[in-house]
Amino acid sequence: MLFPEYRPRRLRQNEAFRRMIRETILTTNDFILPLFAIEGKDLKNPIASMPGQYQLSVDQIVKTCQEVQKLGIPAIMLFGVPNKKDPLATSAYAKDGIVQRAVKAVKNKVPDLAVITDVCLCAYTDHGHCGVVEKNVVDNDASLDLLARTALSHAKAGADMVAPSDMMDGRVAEIRESLDENGFSNVPIMSYAAKYCSGFYGPFRQAADSAPKFGDRRTYQMDPANALEAIREVTMDIEEGADIIMVKPALAYLDVICRVRQEFDLPVAAYNVSGEYAMIKAAEQLGWLDGPRVMMESLTAIKRAGADMILTYFAMDAAKELQSR
Ligand code: PBG
Repeated sequence: MLFPEYRPRRLRQNEAFRRMIRETILTTNDFILPLFAIEGKDLKNPIASMPGQYQLSVDQIVKTCQEVQKLGIPAIMLFGVPNKKDPLATSAYAKDGIVQRAVKAVKNKVPDLAVITDVCLCAYTDHGHCGVVEKNVVDNDASLDLLARTALSHAKAGADMVAPSDMMDGRVAEIRESLDENGFSNVPIMSYAAKYCSGFYGPFRQAADSAPKFGDRRTYQMDPANALEAIREVTMDIEEGADIIMVKPALAYLDVICRVRQEFDLPVAAYNVSGEYAMIKAAEQLGWLDGPRVMMESLTAIKRAGADMILTYFAMDAAKELQSR
């Protein structure tokens, strides 16, 4: 295809042509909004590093969920910020824990909105690691039972789907078994399968108060330099029973999303994480970038790379943007 016979600009000359040849179309069906639940009543605490995002008490979570549903967004991802932390993360799997109560309230008031719960221990342990710590080491196998208990308690509270983000080996199988044994064989698992040890989680750890008190997460989250290892991680989670596989973060890992999409036929989720959100919001506030435009471009890129669904703090902004077009 050589110039002048082929002129790519021919099909770019007006919006009608551009619409006709557009390959990637974002819709509100693509979005999942992460929300942070805190104890208390009538609380809407702004998260400094994530403009437009809040820690919400259960009543405010419900209110937000009603808006989310009105905008046509199909699901939320729920994180808990508990008051009590201890070495065994007991409030992660407490029957009346913050996530458990938030799930119940949302399913009660907004039943058609899908509630996915993040399953991890880091916001619930006093040391801030995603598993149990023995002699300063995160003990993989000792963590599995607690993660399974957490997932089961979320399912009992009414969660539509559970999403383990801890990166312990074998946790998907453990969670699947525990759900099946207790009558929740219909609850799907969205596994954070290829989750990298990323600096882009910074703002989230403020929001969820989940930063590790010593060391870092390099012994369980993936090295950003590795892509083949992502294939092994995803393969493993699928064999263990994952229904949806996630790549996280999204924008610095579009190649991984693309490879995972090509290698596997399960639905692929991508997590457009807190730092990716914060960068755009910050540049927008400084007047350095057109925020809404860069938001839509980033989300389109994540979908173009192969994501079937995108966890994003932009979900409501992007849904409004789509509505206005
Ligand atoms: C918990 C968890 C994290 C995120 C989701 N679940 C943080 C971490 O691993 O420290 C990050 C989400 C975000 O940055 O938006 N393990």
